[in-house]
Amino acid sequence: MEKPLLLDVNGLTVSFRTDRGDIRAVDDVSFSLREGEILSIVGESGSGKSVTLQSLLGLHDPKTTRVDGAVAFRGKRILDMPQSAMRRIRGKEIGLISQDPMTALTPVYTIGWQIAEQIREHERISARAARARAVELLAEVGFSNPNEAVDRFPHQLSGGMRQRAVIAMAISCQPALLVADEPTTALDVTVQAQVLDLLLRLRRDHGAAIILITHDMGVVSEVADHVAVMYAGRIVERGKTADLFDNPLHPYTWGLMASIPPLTGVRPDRLVSIGGMPPLPGSIPEGCGFAPRCRFAQADCRKRPPQRRHGDQSALCILDGDERLEKRREILGAQEYA
Ligand SMILES: Nc1ncnc2c1ncn2[C@@H]1O[C@H](COP(=O)(O)OP(=O)(O)O)[C@@H](O)[C@H]1O
Ligand SMILES: [Mg+2]
Repeated sequence: MEKPLLLDVNGLTVSFRTDRGDIRAVDDVSFSLREGEILSIVGESGSGKSVTLQSLLGLHDPKTTRVDGAVAFRGKRILDMPQSAMRRIRGKEIGLISQDPMTALTPVYTIGWQIAEQIREHERISARAARARAVELLAEVGFSNPNEAVDRFPHQLSGGMRQRAVIAMAISCQPALLVADEPTTALDVTVQAQVLDLLLRLRRDHGAAIILITHDMGVVSEVADHVAVMYAGRIVERGKTADLFDNPLHPYTWGLMASIPPLTGVRPDRLVSIGGMPPLPGSIPEGCGFAPRCRFAQADCRKRPPQRRHGDQSALCILDGDERLEKRREILGAQEYA
């Protein structure tokens, strides 16, 4: 039986007000997440991943940012809630892990104090009990000496340990949803793997659903159940991770996949990377946002691309059928990438 729906994002569109008028950074983004699922949103830097996340959590600045669309968390429309109600949900039911642990931690307080404060913001519990919970949480996220670590200041910890402290804070109220924006980008490869393992363990032990934002297809293949590939403010492809790696539909996804070495088969002579850069909001084409960088672009790509479906997988691209298979072979060959 399918788990209940936890988060449902429908037609999320985000524009910034500028002196040149409104510029759109996120365009008609929809996805949903069931309890305990891991969804990865993947795309190059500048694709609109963080803006999507910040605005769906109501963390945007309403003076400069216009957010349209609907976001339902456990059936409640959270964007229409007053700030105070939204704040209660964030931190208690939704835990946030950011790319840079130093933005989540205050340098002047110990990590134990900060975790305890986070708990006390959402629960009626004594300072002593909150501190004891902080020690338990630090043990859970992998501190070998939590009784000592609880009195450490952020600058006394390594980058990896700081990120674990942030994760301890994010899970302190046992949230149903953890939202992690590039949580391992600033870490070296070994520590990256440990942090990903930790996220998987949190899902296993607490049933937490996770939205994991990354630019790394390797990370996606290791942890996600579902993937949404984002480019120029749109989700250009989505599907179950296994399906998407088996049969990627969108040329942008092919480019991302070509940038990770295959696990099996012959390594291609060179990695086919995608030339150029994602467009800035304000200069995103009306039609397919990827067309200017796509070697298969055709005249019709100036129009908004159709949604091609393949089972429960879909892609925003004009290519279909044999033509798509042929073009994909040019980029990915006949390799297995999953
Ligand atoms: N407040 C803002 N005002 C104007 N442009 C912004 C603002 N925040 C982000 N952007 C732009 O929106 C685009 C998407 O940003 P972002 O969501 O941070 O990308 P990602 O997280 O995928 O790297 C980028 O080009 C970024 O410069
Ligand atoms: Mg980002």
